[in-house]
Amino acid sequence: MKRILVTGATGQIGSELTPALRQRYDADNVVAAGHRAAPSPALRAAGPFVALDVRDAKALAEVVRQYEIDTVYHLAALLSAVAEADPPRAWEINMQGLVNVLEVARQYRCAVFFPSSIAAFGPDAPRAHTPQVTSQRPRTIYGVTKVAGELLCDYYHQRYGVDTRGVRYPGLISHVAKPGGGTTDYAVEIFYAAVAGRPFRCPLRPDTALAMMYMEDALRAAIELMEADPASLTDRNAFNVAAMSFTPAEIAAAITAQVPGFTMTYEIDPLRQAIAEGWPESLDDSAARQQWGWQPAYDLTATVGEMLAKLAAKRAAGKEG
Ligand code: SER
Repeated sequence: MKRILVTGATGQIGSELTPALRQRYDADNVVAAGHRAAPSPALRAAGPFVALDVRDAKALAEVVRQYEIDTVYHLAALLSAVAEADPPRAWEINMQGLVNVLEVARQYRCAVFFPSSIAAFGPDAPRAHTPQVTSQRPRTIYGVTKVAGELLCDYYHQRYGVDTRGVRYPGLISHVAKPGGGTTDYAVEIFYAAVAGRPFRCPLRPDTALAMMYMEDALRAAIELMEADPASLTDRNAFNVAAMSFTPAEIAAAITAQVPGFTMTYEIDPLRQAIAEGWPESLDDSAARQQWGWQPAYDLTATVGEMLAKLAAKRAAGKEG
């Protein structure tokens, strides 16, 4: 039986991956760890929760020992735009946190899932159908921590036999937890505006295409990779996974088709615009497809339909302003 620890359980991915894992492996076998003092009552009620700062190696080891953890989904990290505001802090949380997780995984023989990102590429990589193996010269501190993280995970696998696995996520779209300080956040926030009947001010230029993915697909990618037969994996980490690609103008048009009065204006954020221009607009995910059968289910139309329906229901229930 698996005993799982999810770090960053209160974050953008963790808020949804934790319940998905609890459904699959039993709630008591999935320990949610967050640095926030107050996790949502639902998260706390549904299974074990520990307050944990991943920079604290001792506390992390104690949780792994106490709960007899054998698998860590290590999601705790700062996203791209907030990381730029304080690079030393981003390095400490994103890098030292990962080092601590890998060390404890080596000691206690845990498998580790590590999410990398389209941010692991830089402006010199091809933006369209970015290959899995190509130049990686990111210009953001977030991207630097993701490249270093990919390499470190490979290193721990090769050097110590730790079962590290990971994907490179596109921008993630979901209706549960809002992302905090990323560059692709606009593709989530736009839906909250549309459902509330508000105009949306887009921080990116209308023609800035980025690789994106609906959260359901992202959760499935993590679980399927962790459950894949290791014999079929030539690579371990940094699998490109793709689902869709669109520009702000395209997603606005897809929303307008379903919310006729929706309007979008542009108020370009130079930081986010510069970051986005250095990231892939689409990814070549053939290695993931071949080695562990990766297949996305949601395109832009399906994502827009789901997001509008789910957020409208939340709003009707008085759960979203
Ligand atoms: N979605 C993240 C961000 O925008 C990238 O991994 O920072």
